[in-house]
Amino acid sequence: KRDFISVEQLSVEEIYKVMNLAEYYRLEDIHLNNGYFVANLFFEPSTRTKMSFVVAERRLGLEVLDFHAEASSVLKGESLYDTAKTFEAIGANMLVIRHEADDWYEELQNKLSIPIINAGAGKQEHPTQCMLDLLTIYQEFHTFEGLKICIVGDIRHSRVARSNANALKRLGADVSLCAAPGFEDASLDFPYMTIDEAADKCNVLMLLRIQHERHEYQSETTNYLEQYGLTKCRERRMKPNAIIMHPAPINRNVEIDTDLVECERSRIFKQMNNGVYIRMATMMYLFKEWGMTNESLTNKWQ
Ligand code: CP
Repeated sequence: KRDFISVEQLSVEEIYKVMNLAEYYRLEDIHLNNGYFVANLFFEPSTRTKMSFVVAERRLGLEVLDFHAEASSVLKGESLYDTAKTFEAIGANMLVIRHEADDWYEELQNKLSIPIINAGAGKQEHPTQCMLDLLTIYQEFHTFEGLKICIVGDIRHSRVARSNANALKRLGADVSLCAAPGFEDASLDFPYMTIDEAADKCNVLMLLRIQHERHEYQSETTNYLEQYGLTKCRERRMKPNAIIMHPAPINRNVEIDTDLVECERSRIFKQMNNGVYIRMATMMYLFKEWGMTNESLTNKWQ
């Protein structure tokens, strides 16, 4: 029985299965009814991931146990492990966890009798963001094979870059990175290009937020847009059918000119919408993996 910690643990076939199930949920506007409880344990701020999990959970008919770390016994020093064990003891059937530590999972691995979903961890992985990004690209191009995709921005502090670069490569995309000096990540083995090359050549520009909260020193961003970001001038140079993505939240006029956030090429709000269906599908995948099946939950799993 696996938790869902990284897209690396899914075979290519499983990635397509989860995407297909998400598409089914999107097209059918499905609402189910069952008796499982899911706890959303967010130890780091979130808007999109947390609230799209809540919508996904309610659509699957799951009972949502909300949790606010800042108003919980975490403030009395309770550990992640004891918090998770508490939710297991009171009847949670699944845990969705966001945590600031890269090694958060070590405390929990093989220690719980219920599945865990990684809702974004430190600088390591954000697997449900990766899956919704894959779905968004697949909806657009109906393939990954040979697509030129550049991940642009604060690569070094991004969990999205790591998850997406590796998954897209496995699916056959031609992945490059683009980063301002100091934002590169030597642990990712992909070629770098400039933002101008990326704008000229790529089918997908996947922009990333400058993650000020993970920087040791405050980064200067006054000239960032002109030097390293997606300006209107660069957008005009993009290929006719090329798209712009960003996991958000966005630093408007830093990574991207504010006028481009909702431009025709932008899929940024589509990504958020896909997040609901991908999270439904991911929870379904885990319920099946853990044998937590009932008619309502599994009738559409192929
Ligand atoms: N993309 C993303 O993870 O956004 P949140 O931090 O708001 O969840």
